[in-house]
Amino acid sequence: MKDKIKILILDDEKQFTEELNGFFLSSDFESFEANTAAEGKKILGQHEIDLLILDVRLPGVNGLDILKEVKVLYPSMEVIIISAHGDMDTVIKAMRLGAFDYLRKPFRYIDIQIAIERTQKYLQMQRRLKKVEEKNSLISKTLEEKIDRQFIGVSQKILEVFDQAITAAKYPDANVLITGESGTGKENIARIIHYSSEKKDHVFCAVNSSAITETLLESEFFGHKKGSFTGAISDKMGFFEVCNQGTLFLDEIADMPFNLQAKILRATEEKVITRVGDTVPIRTDFRIISATNHDIDKNVELKKFRLDLLHRLNTLHIHIPALRERPEDIKPLLTHFIELYAGKFNRANIQVSKEVFEALMKYDFPGNVRELRNMTERAIILCKGNTLGIADFRVNPHKSETGEQKETTVNLKISEIKLVRKALQNNRFNQQAAADALGITRDALIRKMKKHNISISRGEES
Ligand SMILES: Nc1ncnc2c1ncn2[C@@H]1O[C@H](COP(=O)(O)OP(=O)(O)OP(=O)(O)O)[C@@H](O)[C@H]1O
Ligand SMILES: [Mg+2]
Repeated sequence: MKDKIKILILDDEKQFTEELNGFFLSSDFESFEANTAAEGKKILGQHEIDLLILDVRLPGVNGLDILKEVKVLYPSMEVIIISAHGDMDTVIKAMRLGAFDYLRKPFRYIDIQIAIERTQKYLQMQRRLKKVEEKNSLISKTLEEKIDRQFIGVSQKILEVFDQAITAAKYPDANVLITGESGTGKENIARIIHYSSEKKDHVFCAVNSSAITETLLESEFFGHKKGSFTGAISDKMGFFEVCNQGTLFLDEIADMPFNLQAKILRATEEKVITRVGDTVPIRTDFRIISATNHDIDKNVELKKFRLDLLHRLNTLHIHIPALRERPEDIKPLLTHFIELYAGKFNRANIQVSKEVFEALMKYDFPGNVRELRNMTERAIILCKGNTLGIADFRVNPHKSETGEQKETTVNLKISEIKLVRKALQNNRFNQQAAADALGITRDALIRKMKKHNISISRGEES
């Protein structure tokens, strides 16, 4: 921790700055003085100033504009303003813009000393907090590193996806939209892009807005100031701030409430946000990777999704084909998942029977890779000997649902309703179990239930 606080005094009265500077230097602060805005800005750029003492009545410039600007450029620097007697209006405006304290000219040294001591305590607290936050983010970073980012596949289609991801990693400022059915690996690809890019040492923050209640969404994204609404018991950073320099992964963007879309668009364009209930602008720079398994163009047509936001998000577009469109990947994925779960459950030498493989090649995997992974995990748990048999996999080798398959392509909606209902019934209306059986997340299942108006009675809810 730096112990000496660095202070800059910006006031047009040379005698005043000299005097104050002398006082600070004798009080063991590191102090600088400037008599014009230009001089002040130069010093701010050269030294890491902790506290700015700013006269808001500088000739030719509006001190409040300077305050606004420095609060954006140096968000962790505190500002004490100096105002004239009777100019309460300016004081109020300055405090709203984020000034820490104010002093009225003429003031006694004791006044400034008290104000600085107060600021010093606050700055020390901020520094301690920052250290704790840095430590926490380091811990979560090592955890992130451990997360499986292996991406398996040999098909031409998946190699192209991989190639596109590596290109996206080379352009860390370009937003990326990833589309593909549920379970195709969109989040996997998003992580690969982040961790292969120069942003890898910063935060990767995955957000699924459909899992957050609408009333809380804005404060989750933008953060809030203590007391700005009931429940806001302390100041809070939002996702945009947390992701500074890193990647914000917006999962299932099609579900984002329309009124939030405009705000998100503004934040991505201006790279400046304000916390809910606050007026201090905060600069933050991040890349957005978004994902959807919906037809987003359709949502634009239906006026559920803003076209301008879509344009902003899909600078680069990566589409991950469904597993049934790249059957060559089934075998390597199966081998990978067997290795993974055999290791996890301490089962050595697990083999797979030929029938299983043939059945999987014919199966159409509505839940894609996630379904194959869950299936393999279940099979290894169920398997009595060393060879995984067809009975261990709950997949119909003859695709007796071929009729239904045809219908699926003809009428996706009806098939989806049928599948969701069936999965819920088969799993005694336990939503998590039904979602697992479908190879989708519980959130995705709930979205589908909402979409098709499928309800379950209260007593049966999981
Ligand atoms: N090519 C792959 N290699 C290894 N594992 C994969 C691959 N593709 C997907 N997976 C695994 O499948 C599971 C689902 O992937 P992921 O969560 O990325 O899918 P998604 O497209 O985001 O799905 P959803 O739309 O339901 O959110 C994860 O456990 C992921 O690790
Ligand atoms: Mg996902």
